[in-house]
Amino acid sequence: MTTWATPAQIQSAAETLVRGELVAFATETVYGLGADASNPEAVAKIFAAKGRPSDHPVIVHVADAQAASVWVSEVSEFAQALMDAFWPGPLTLILPKADWVPSQVSGGQSTIGVRCPSHPVAQALLTEFSEQLIQVRGAENVRAVGIAAPSANRYGQVSPTQAAHVEQEFAELVAAGMPILAGGDSEFGIESTIVDLSRMDQGGSPALLRPGSLGRAVIEEVLGQPVLGQDAQAPRVPGSVKAHYAPRTPMRLWDAQALPQAIEGWLKQYGTGQLAVVASAVECEHLQAVLGSQSRVQCFAMPNHPQAYAQVLYAQLRALDALQMTTIYWANVPATEDWLAIRDRLQRAGAAFETEQSI
Ligand code: TXA
Ligand code: MG
Repeated sequence: MTTWATPAQIQSAAETLVRGELVAFATETVYGLGADASNPEAVAKIFAAKGRPSDHPVIVHVADAQAASVWVSEVSEFAQALMDAFWPGPLTLILPKADWVPSQVSGGQSTIGVRCPSHPVAQALLTEFSEQLIQVRGAENVRAVGIAAPSANRYGQVSPTQAAHVEQEFAELVAAGMPILAGGDSEFGIESTIVDLSRMDQGGSPALLRPGSLGRAVIEEVLGQPVLGQDAQAPRVPGSVKAHYAPRTPMRLWDAQALPQAIEGWLKQYGTGQLAVVASAVECEHLQAVLGSQSRVQCFAMPNHPQAYAQVLYAQLRALDALQMTTIYWANVPATEDWLAIRDRLQRAGAAFETEQSI
């Protein structure tokens, strides 16, 4: 248990944002690396820190639907319905951007991603930041308030769900004074669900660009129409590049039934070294029975429920990396809608190593 950021720390972090510097902060999904979204130079620092390609847009975090409306060209009735139903919470909406929005924020695209986080620390930061911006610049000079924030990890790496993870990712920035506003373990543990509504005003369908804890079915219910998968015309999403969220230890996904044989094969192929196996508690028990006293294989049990699984997924990936084992074999989760977001992250984590034959 870490302690949460104090009001004084939040106030000081808001000052840091107003000065155009970076601040890491807790949200209910994962920790974010934030900058004043209306300041292109500040936003550029996010890209530099992450090593992220500049054509990948960042999400703008806002205090509420009203604050979001300034960043987009129009809040359609569909957008309004989703905001009413799920904000604040783990949902990002992609909408046509307002003309004035700097292209650094939209990654050169005509759309913008907006999200209203529910975490009290993120909300307090947004409130404090807004007040200070108005105080420093004058109300007439503040057109819109928002914090641009991708996940607080280096490009392609595992997203942070604890303040300590952010410290690991950005040790130099933290040493140089970058604040981290702690808020405990992230409640959801994986990034927000991203829904693209940007093409609906031309008769296009809503699309699920990134699955998350908020499932497709509840979104469809509110919109009253099907939400399609990603297509070639949809706005680009870096979280959707094939290899992402990757640990440093070579990792391979297996169907649970195939694991015992795969482990046997690994033991034969590798005369030395340690294999980490990640599976459900029941699968781990079964493997233990099959493997007996084999000391080169260690099994790590994951929760049975998708929500609980998502909450610990990234911390588990990081913990395994820290053990520096030779290989990770990970049992895939069910191919059902409620596991969709987790399957997506596991696939991408494993995809980074797909070309390495010997894992
Ligand atoms: O849960 C989250 O969404 C976290 C926390 C910090 O809020 N943020 C996060 O940001 O995951 P990031 O940058 O790692 O992922 C944001 C995703 C990217 O895949 C990005 O491409 C997409 O949102 N996105 C942002 N603006 C977009 C736009 N205009 N068009 C299409 N995709 C956009
Ligand atoms: Mg990310």
